[in-house]
Amino acid sequence: MVKKLFIETLGCAMNVRDSEHMIAELSEKEAYELTTNSDEADLIIINTCSVREKPVHKLFSELGVFNKGKKEGAKIGVAGCTASHLGKDIIKRAPYVNFVLGARNVSKIATIIHQDKAVETEIDYDESQFAFKDFRTSPYKSYINISIGCDKQCSFCIVPHTRGDEISIPADLIVAEVRKSVERGAVEVFLLGQNVNNYGRRFSNSDEKVNFTELLRRVSEVDGLKRIRFTSPHPLHMDDEFLEEFAKNPKICKTMHMPLQSGSTTLLKAMKRGYTKEWFLNRAQKLRELVPDVSISTDIIVGFPGESEEDYQDTLDVMRQVEFEQVFSFKYSPRPMTEAENFTNVVAPEVASARLSVVQDLHNATLDEIKHRNQGKLVEVYFEELRADGFVAGRSDNNLLVKVKGSEELLGTIQKVRITKLSRLSFEGELIE
Ligand code: 5AD
Ligand code: SF4
Repeated sequence: MVKKLFIETLGCAMNVRDSEHMIAELSEKEAYELTTNSDEADLIIINTCSVREKPVHKLFSELGVFNKGKKEGAKIGVAGCTASHLGKDIIKRAPYVNFVLGARNVSKIATIIHQDKAVETEIDYDESQFAFKDFRTSPYKSYINISIGCDKQCSFCIVPHTRGDEISIPADLIVAEVRKSVERGAVEVFLLGQNVNNYGRRFSNSDEKVNFTELLRRVSEVDGLKRIRFTSPHPLHMDDEFLEEFAKNPKICKTMHMPLQSGSTTLLKAMKRGYTKEWFLNRAQKLRELVPDVSISTDIIVGFPGESEEDYQDTLDVMRQVEFEQVFSFKYSPRPMTEAENFTNVVAPEVASARLSVVQDLHNATLDEIKHRNQGKLVEVYFEELRADGFVAGRSDNNLLVKVKGSEELLGTIQKVRITKLSRLSFEGELIE
C-alpha cells in the first residue's frame, strides 16, 4: 500500500537537495508518495537548519503541532543540521519523535524509519559516493552536490560541526549526474557545496585530483546543458583562473555569491575568514571588470562580538563600493560549539538591530539606483514559474527575476526579453521574437 510522506525543508539549498535524496530513497525503497498535508501523512520529516538560533526554537513548537495533528500511528523524524547538533536531546525534549537523522546521514533514511528512537548523527560518515535515487523538485533545473561538509573554521559558524569535514564527490559521478538530468529535460544545473571553489581538496578515494575550475569546464562540456549555477563560493578561493573561467565560459550564469560577512579586516580576522577588506574589494572589482553585467550577491553579519562603529562603517563602505545586487543580512547569533560563542566583547542587541536596519536601508537605496541600468536591456530568461495573474517568470542569466505576459508553453524555454518595467526586486519585460 502506498504510504504518504510529508517533508518540510528549512535552511539552504543543501537541505533542499538532502530532502530530494530522502524523498527518492523513500519512494524507491518504501513506496512513499509525497503529500502537502501533514495530517494525512504516515511519515512527517522536518529537515532542519541550525545556522541561527531562532529556527531551532521554532522547531520544538512546530513538532508539537505536528504531533497533535498527525494521524494515528504516523511517525515523526527530525533530519538535518539541528538533528546533527542536538542529537538525542531532541527525543528527550519531544519523546514522540521517532528518529533523529543528521545532515551527514541522509542516505540512511530508508533504514532509520524502521528503528524507533534511533539517532544517527555521525559527522564523519562518508556519503560522498552514495548513489541516491532520482527525485527532482523542479523539472527545469537540477541541484547537484559536488561536495559534502565544510573544512573552514569560521568562528561564528556551526556548519562544520553539523556537516563534518569536507569531502569532494568524484568528478565523473558529478558529470554523470549532469548528463542524466539533461536527458530528463533540465537544461540548468545548480552545483552545490558549502565551499564550492575549494572543490578537489580532498576525495575519499584515490580519484584524480580535479579543481573547481576544471570541474566547471568538464560540466560545461555536457551536450544539451545550457546553464550552470553554483553556490556557495568563498571569496578567499576566487583566484584569477577561476574568475577568468567564470567570465569566458558561456554556460556559466553570470551571477556570483561573494559572502562578505564583514568589511572590516580586523573583524574578518576574528571571524577567521582568511581574507582582508582589500582582497575582497580587489576580487569584486576584477569580477566587475571581466563581466560588466555580473550580479553579485552577498551575506553580511552585523553585531559580531567586538564590532566597533569603525568596523561596521567598513562594511557599509564595501557595500557602497561593490553595489551588491542582492544582500542577505543577519544579526549575529551565538551558536554552540563555535569559537565565537565564548567571545565576551558582545555588541548590545539594540546596537546590532540598528546596524542591521542601516545595512538594509543602504541596500534598498542601492537597488533603487542600480535598477535603472536595466531599463531597455535585452536579457535571456529561463522560464520556470507560471503565475496566476497571466504572467510567466524566470531568471535571466545574471539572476534578474523577470516576468512576461504569457502561458505555460513558455515554461522550460529560454527566451530573449526586453526589460520594460523596473522595480527593486523584479522586472517586467516583453518577448523579442
Ligand atoms: N549568526 C548570524 N549569521 C550567521 N551565518 C552563519 N552563522 C551565523 C551566525 N552565527 C550567516 C552567514 C552565512 C549565512 C549562510 O548565514 O552570513 O554566510
Ligand atoms: Fe544549510 Fe548551514 Fe542551515 Fe545546515 S546550518 S541547513 S548547512 S544553512
